[in-house]
Amino acid sequence: MQNLYNKLIELSESRQYPFHMPGHKRNTDSTPLKGAFQCDITEIDDFDNLHDEEGIILEAEERANRLYGAHRTYFSVNGSTAGVLAAVSASVKSGGTILAARGSHKSFYHAAFLRNLNIKYLPNKTDNELKIPGVYSKDDVENYLDDSVEAVFITSPTYEGKCSDIAGIARICHERNIPLIVDAAHGAHFGFGKEYDKEQEYSSVPQNAVKQGADIVIHSIHKTLPSMTQTALIHISDYKGLADEVKKYLRIYQTSSPSYVLMASIDLCMEELEKNSDSFIKNLLDYRNAISVKTSGLHNIAIAGADIIDDPAKVVIFDRTGTMTGKQIYGILREEYSLQLEMAGEKIALAILSGWDSEEGIDRLIQAVSEIDEKIQETKINTETSVNNITDGKKSAEYPLADLKLSEAWDKTSEETLLQEANGKISGDFINLYPPGIPLIVPGEVFSEELIEEICGYLDEDLNVQGVVSKPGGTGYFVRTLK
Ligand SMILES: Cc1ncc(COP(=O)(O)O)c(C=O)c1O
Repeated sequence: MQNLYNKLIELSESRQYPFHMPGHKRNTDSTPLKGAFQCDITEIDDFDNLHDEEGIILEAEERANRLYGAHRTYFSVNGSTAGVLAAVSASVKSGGTILAARGSHKSFYHAAFLRNLNIKYLPNKTDNELKIPGVYSKDDVENYLDDSVEAVFITSPTYEGKCSDIAGIARICHERNIPLIVDAAHGAHFGFGKEYDKEQEYSSVPQNAVKQGADIVIHSIHKTLPSMTQTALIHISDYKGLADEVKKYLRIYQTSSPSYVLMASIDLCMEELEKNSDSFIKNLLDYRNAISVKTSGLHNIAIAGADIIDDPAKVVIFDRTGTMTGKQIYGILREEYSLQLEMAGEKIALAILSGWDSEEGIDRLIQAVSEIDEKIQETKINTETSVNNITDGKKSAEYPLADLKLSEAWDKTSEETLLQEANGKISGDFINLYPPGIPLIVPGEVFSEELIEEICGYLDEDLNVQGVVSKPGGTGYFVRTLK
């Protein structure tokens, strides 16, 4: 089967002249990004159309579909964001009700806003030791389902690599005749490879959510597979004509000029999986197991193991003595060791691995965390006191209660309020800790003292809090509340 990239290269080497968009005319002198511009075209003859695919794009989507085992797979050139928007819109009628975890990605809330949905929340499941979102069992979901719920939305794996019981939750949903949407943005590598050495901490990657019975599964292939940023897949089961509904909304939420560079990247990534997924996953497991083995003797720094983190691609680094915050570990790795991690949380620093990492990179990470561990040990011996303990049992604030529906609140006029004076007021905007982009408060929810304290803590730690602005001259932090 010819891949999209080869067909684009064939075109670029042919005599065919582009009297069409884009404006660079495939002239590589117009840019230093030569290869990308060579493949960047619009929907010309023989190159199909993402929004109404019947040729080479359909074939490419079918290849992806065979790999993941869905009824239908669509490409997204607008990330999992477009996938989540389309999945939620397709599954719940306008003004309807969806059951979801409060710790869902902001794209879920944006979908709820656009479709004027009522959100029913699963209970908050934060892991209080590492301060990372927890996961859900089938009983959690069953206990919160009622006749108003039209679909269930679960994030699995989480950003940090924890998985919910998707097979069990899918069964419960199907007994109720409603679809299960799984935001598996971080799990595109799941289900590949074999079961390798069982003696090792990680011997395989978890099963993919499509095979576990979910009805719509969204994968950001750019996050854990070799594909360009923005590329994603949406897999749909043959449940109640959902595939056609999802397509309808993808046409709305995606650009009418989808990038052939991005689509070729998706197709090449699928070809790579088709040919080399076993060695890709074997490399990933080898890298992750080496990290576990070589850091197992550390006294202070710990890497969360397979008992906590299901996904071997996620390396959750924390200081079990509480000497260092996640942000401090992240900062030292970046400033002193030139290792750029994915994100820092209150307690953890998160590194993402893939089968395309290098041994040199993995060795540098192991060496760096070992040296940080030694430094903490020295500090403890020198001071002979218990060091600045940030793990003093401070619990994350409970998610705030909603006073108003999200879509009503976000449409109302809001005003700037000093964060310290926001207690009891209704939020007019989202406040997100980024990454991972899970809202701390959504429009319509009420600020509490605990939440304000938690936000101040993140700001003090210099974490990236979106939706809070500081004024020049240091007059404080402001949020938006309803008038
Ligand atoms: C859980 C989750 N869902 C959805 C998304 C959106 O993915 P994308 O960046 O591919 O649009 C993200 C992005 O970080 C995410 O973490």
